[in-house]
Amino acid sequence: MDNNVRPETMERIVSSELAKAFIDEQVALLKEQIGDKKVLLALSGGVDSSVVAALLIKAIGKNLVCVHVNHGLLRKGEPEQVIEVFRNQMDANLIYVDAVDRFLDKLAGVADPEQKRKIIGEEFIRVFEEEAMKLDGIKFLAQGTIYPDILESVGVKAHHNVGGLPEKFGFELVEPVKLLYKDEVRVVGKELGLPDNMVYRQPFPGPGLGVRCVGAITRDRLEALREADAIVREEIGALPEVPWQYFCAIPDVQSTGIKYVDGQGVRYMGWAVVIRAVNTVDAVTATVPEIPFKVLCSMRDKIVKIPGVNRVLWDISEKPVATIEWE
Ligand code: XMP
Repeated sequence: MDNNVRPETMERIVSSELAKAFIDEQVALLKEQIGDKKVLLALSGGVDSSVVAALLIKAIGKNLVCVHVNHGLLRKGEPEQVIEVFRNQMDANLIYVDAVDRFLDKLAGVADPEQKRKIIGEEFIRVFEEEAMKLDGIKFLAQGTIYPDILESVGVKAHHNVGGLPEKFGFELVEPVKLLYKDEVRVVGKELGLPDNMVYRQPFPGPGLGVRCVGAITRDRLEALREADAIVREEIGALPEVPWQYFCAIPDVQSTGIKYVDGQGVRYMGWAVVIRAVNTVDAVTATVPEIPFKVLCSMRDKIVKIPGVNRVLWDISEKPVATIEWE
């Protein structure tokens, strides 16, 4: 039997009971597969890798080595949450790699979106490889592959899968959620006790804020974007109907603003932040949901307080003709 094919008899995991049964079964299988060997996992903090981490912690405890690479393009609070949940609450063996300068230095002056993606992807693998090389006795590499990844046969999903590593290091793969759909992974994550904002996290691209800080990334514009994104996530995330994806982009354009110094109007150049929210089923096409004007104004009032920002725009473009991301 091809173990990459979901059996027709496999019940859809829609309840806490079914999730519990899945967890018990997987934990037993993982114990059997891994024994007392060590497993390495790139833990991004996304729902897939987080669920894999939580399952493995249950099965093998400290023999799981999680590596969280902070490439500087994560959203506000994300690296801190990974440390809090996995190291402090779950007592995981977690290696936190602060690679912010390394990534941002490599990206300096690079404006082409595909070049940016390539640099981020390659650098990620390099950092992860370096960490892997420092460790002794690793036999397995765990990955948060899910069933749609197999169906789409994309193989290497930017950032989630660490391409090439299994062959290079002779690692055997551990993919405990590879037959699950995303909604099932979330039910399992909830049952494993992961926090809601991790379990119901909106899709976030591998290259992270890197493709939302349009053009050549600069640290000041990236910081402004991170702050604006946190505001938008909080306000739109509190709406009765939460869109599929909602975030900010910051184009590499400045426009005139005015501030008052001692009652005197002074003109200056500042950044414009773009608010983007979309609904979609498969990300191939996307529509733009209505956002109450009051909420838009509330976000605007907070965003213009961010240093360097003097304008807020709402992107009402659908896909097609625009893509969801700005790059
Ligand atoms: P676009 O912009 O192509 O985005 O309409 C469709 C969906 O894909 C996500 N996206 C990415 N995800 N690596 C990823 O892992 C990427 O390079 C990437 N680019 C776009 C985007 O967030 C949206 O959900």
